Amino acid sequence: MKIIKTFHIQTKRTSYILAVTESLHICCLHYGRKLREMADYSVLFEKHDVCYGSMVAYSKEDANFGLDDVCLEYSSCGKGDFREPAIELESHDGTGVTDFKYKGFRTFPGKEPIPGLPSSYDGSGDCTSYVLELSDNCLNISVFLHYCAFYDSDVITKHVEIKNDSNHAISLKRAMSMQLDLPENDYYFVTFDGTWSAERYRNDKRLSPGIFVNDSKTGVSSSRHNPFVMLRRKNCDEQSGECCGFNLIYSANHAEIVEVTHSGKTRILSGINPFGFKYELNNNQSFFTPETVMTFSSEGLNGLSRNMHEFINNNIVRGKWKNKARPILVNNWEGTWFDFDEKKLLDIAKTASELGIELFVLDDGWFGERNSDDRSLGDWVVNRKKLPHALSGLAEKIKKLGMDFGIWVEPEMVNENSELYRSHPEWAIKLPDREPSLGRNQLILDLTQKDVRRYIVDSMSEVFSSADIAYVKWDMNRNFSDIYSPSLPPHRQGEFNHRYVLGLYEILETLTSSFPDILFESCASGGNRFDLGMLCYMPQTWTSDNTDPVSRLAIQNGTSYGYPLSCMGAHVSASPHQQTLRSTPIETRFNVAAFGCLGYEMDMTKLSPFDKNCIKAQVEFYKRHRMLFQYGTFYRVTIPYNSNWCVWCVVSKDKKEAAAGFFQINAVPSHTHDLLRLCGLSDDLFYDIEGRKQFINVKAFGDLVNHVLPVKIRGDGVIHTMISARYMFSQTDERFSAYGDAINHSGIRLKQQFGGTGYNESLRVIGDFGSRMYYLKAEEDDED
Ligand code: DGJ
Repeated sequence: MKIIKTFHIQTKRTSYILAVTESLHICCLHYGRKLREMADYSVLFEKHDVCYGSMVAYSKEDANFGLDDVCLEYSSCGKGDFREPAIELESHDGTGVTDFKYKGFRTFPGKEPIPGLPSSYDGSGDCTSYVLELSDNCLNISVFLHYCAFYDSDVITKHVEIKNDSNHAISLKRAMSMQLDLPENDYYFVTFDGTWSAERYRNDKRLSPGIFVNDSKTGVSSSRHNPFVMLRRKNCDEQSGECCGFNLIYSANHAEIVEVTHSGKTRILSGINPFGFKYELNNNQSFFTPETVMTFSSEGLNGLSRNMHEFINNNIVRGKWKNKARPILVNNWEGTWFDFDEKKLLDIAKTASELGIELFVLDDGWFGERNSDDRSLGDWVVNRKKLPHALSGLAEKIKKLGMDFGIWVEPEMVNENSELYRSHPEWAIKLPDREPSLGRNQLILDLTQKDVRRYIVDSMSEVFSSADIAYVKWDMNRNFSDIYSPSLPPHRQGEFNHRYVLGLYEILETLTSSFPDILFESCASGGNRFDLGMLCYMPQTWTSDNTDPVSRLAIQNGTSYGYPLSCMGAHVSASPHQQTLRSTPIETRFNVAAFGCLGYEMDMTKLSPFDKNCIKAQVEFYKRHRMLFQYGTFYRVTIPYNSNWCVWCVVSKDKKEAAAGFFQINAVPSHTHDLLRLCGLSDDLFYDIEGRKQFINVKAFGDLVNHVLPVKIRGDGVIHTMISARYMFSQTDERFSAYGDAINHSGIRLKQQFGGTGYNESLRVIGDFGSRMYYLKAEEDDED
């Protein structure tokens, strides 16, 4: 078997080389580091001079060629490739054999949108599209493989159009967005798994022959298994080695399937989960898959993340908030739950404004009879007992305090105890003859129904224009059950999940275009729908309901592999923490949340003077360096898994400034020296490094307080408590200067930690869950 045509898709640092065989199958010759252009690529094509053992020979003309051992580009069923297929369908006669062969090709600059689905776009004028047309001539069905190469970010996206040109309806049972066949299997399959309050924990699975599935069956992209996955080589770590990353621009059930075969090849598929999926395609109709994003890096996992982050900031997030500084917010949820009135909210807002916070967000509980989570979802009318001056009155008063006003909504949901459900029970998702199961006491509205979509758009448009609203938190608090829609005939019920999300996208498209100035943040019980589909409409996502900084190190670290800091909502909340009951220093809560879009979520009226002073300084610091924290290049230096320490840093594009967070889980007595070795700085620039001015609550010292205070008091007594609320005991000053090469390749030796013996002013007091933030600035060259 020979190849008769090749395509070399290129980005700045990667090559993706495809070939057409004499049998007209498309195969993949290379995906990885950039290769030079060659006159003849056949050296990269496997030899097929024998069909081993039980292999099926594709055709009589070439009895030595079987599809089962070829790196194919989009596999179908029934012609000898026994691996997981990319497409599976049932034709009108009930058969499922398909064979798609190369027919033609076109290329053009830029990127076309995908009908009905969110997708990437040409944000920086650096992308080129390629479309390969395949066809099954027996069935009269075409498959168009769409590719788009984003040059600067080293991202290539893929999606597929399946067109039924026959005179019969067909049923799609599987229609993946992407297949990539790699010739080797020396990989770890890295997934980001979890649950509520513990989202996107990193898991590395060593590949061996078999099938590995990462998917969601919950109806949303889910906190169980995020659609972002990676394949990394055995020797690939944060700073070096080869790896590929894949993500799907989709918010419903997804699947990433990896198969390693007997012959050592690896196939990865990504797309809509075939579980529960069946889609009827009539004559002349097309089905469009969501778009998969893939990237390759030979600079370790940090290189891969950099590619994904650049791509998301430039080619996924759109509208007014693209690459714009995101406001520091205060959210009342953990401070008040449902128990608030206008006065309480204004008291919180007043303190927040005094501390420099820019946006006040009113969370759940402002509408209908919503005093608990079992009622009123769907009734988007202000509760006048709580807010006698309506949203507009509250917003005006917030504005007068010098802050913007934002609001929480959960438009996809309904409680049985609501006016909406009483008048439209048929709008909720449930089966006609089965009692529906509830999640957080609520049902989901059936977005496949046009009237439901219209109701959501109308009611939300009314809310959003009823006051001066600068920000909207769009929540979604349950997974799907009892799936059925009266809008679909029995043989189309398998389309429900996909049609639901198309309905959601239609609503989001309408609302975000009608309210272009609003900053939208998506949320789903924390991070249960943290995906690229939502990010196409909403530039931020609430990362997790768990704001405990120790948990957040793992959650934000895991999230950062695939998503930029500008997309991650990160809040400082009260201590002890409401989910973990862990007590942590307020400075650590900030130092973690600063690596994201900063907010505060607590009853600010209850803050001690100490906490207020800390927050004021934190807000000032974050404002000064906000673009660095939200849009700088992020590096995981020491990751928080199986380690007592975690170090992150973020470096500006011009490398002239950086910030580093040093986090410690447990205090270690007689601790030796900490070394701050960073990455991404310019070797040739000379940096001044300064520890952020941080404060320590003297309560942390217990009886030892007498060693650090000028007066003698009883540890943990009344006076100690009073002093701790006010006395701003400062962390030791740390200042260093060094060239980037010393910091990148050797490391700054930090001041020693207090470790049980003696205390003096040169020691850092870090303790359990302690941390320090360092700011680095390159000295200006005199000749500049
Ligand atoms: C779940 C969200 O994750 C929380 O932040 C909060 O908005 C609640 N819903 C409100 O019901």
